[in-house]
Amino acid sequence: MELHFSRHRRLRQSANMRALVRENHLRAEDFIYPLFIVEGEKTKNEVSSMPGVFQISMDYLQEEMEEIVSLGIKSVILFGVPAEKDECGEQAYHDHGIVQEATRFIKDRFPEMIVVADTCLCEYTSHGHCGVVEGDRVLNDASLELLVKTAVSQAKAGADIIAPSNMMDGFVAAIRAGLDEAGFEEVPIMSYAVKYSSAFYGPFRDAADSTPQFGDRKTYQMDPANRMEALREAESDVNEGADFLIVKPGMPYLDIVRDVKNNFNLPVVIYNVSGEYSMVKAAALNGWIDEKKIVLEMLVGMKRAGADLIITYFAKDAVRWLNEE
Ligand code: PBG
Repeated sequence: MELHFSRHRRLRQSANMRALVRENHLRAEDFIYPLFIVEGEKTKNEVSSMPGVFQISMDYLQEEMEEIVSLGIKSVILFGVPAEKDECGEQAYHDHGIVQEATRFIKDRFPEMIVVADTCLCEYTSHGHCGVVEGDRVLNDASLELLVKTAVSQAKAGADIIAPSNMMDGFVAAIRAGLDEAGFEEVPIMSYAVKYSSAFYGPFRDAADSTPQFGDRKTYQMDPANRMEALREAESDVNEGADFLIVKPGMPYLDIVRDVKNNFNLPVVIYNVSGEYSMVKAAALNGWIDEKKIVLEMLVGMKRAGADLIITYFAKDAVRWLNEE
């Protein structure tokens, strides 16, 4: 009997053969590491729902950055935890806001480091929404003005990339115009173009203290059931002048990452969000999974799905593990 079949196992027979045909790789340059900077001094609080992730005050920033640089990580994304919050999120666009100060500190001492500034109001507003609130509504156009002010003050402080995460319509157009007008036409926009209204952000809201005080974010963040809408969102941001497109969350949305990759020719960034981190950590701390293997598999899966860059709380661990291989 003559059988006809393909011998796929030929290319899997040894570690070196597998390395030869490996299609995707993780590198330290792929990662953007999130930092939570809290106002005040001598503070290093572990986020209870995110073991290994800390809110740090500025006096811990030097040692934190030294570690990040020594690992070969080339970019960080900054989130601020201000001492004071108000209706309009003034600390988001204050020239001496916590993110502006941290940006100046890093760019002064580590000029090569790429500092990405998350541009949003939710960490700074007393109501915890990402825009200006009137009654129980989050106003679109009124929010744009404050987001532009925030982006410009972040650029002034030296941010290399502006990453607006607020999901107001027109935020890329408004921020691009505002940056250009202020003389920052060279500063790129990494748009959170496709951002779902997700329960996976829960632990981040502990870390950034940004839980909405009423309602939810469903009138501005996307419905997890939708796929075509992701292409509409990405298309507007491309037309408005975005330089990078973020898809967020990561793990449950890999189909969307592939759609965005196939339809647009900008670098695609995936945000491996807090809830994804917490789930893996919890299982690892219970000894239920092999953390290193799970994390590296998850991250390379994101690259396979089409991500060029990965924002992840696992960045430092991943680089350490990659160096061990
Ligand atoms: C701010 C913002 C959020 C995240 C990043 N930027 C929270 C939110 O939209 O509620 C989530 C990141 C994470 O969960 O790791 N708008």
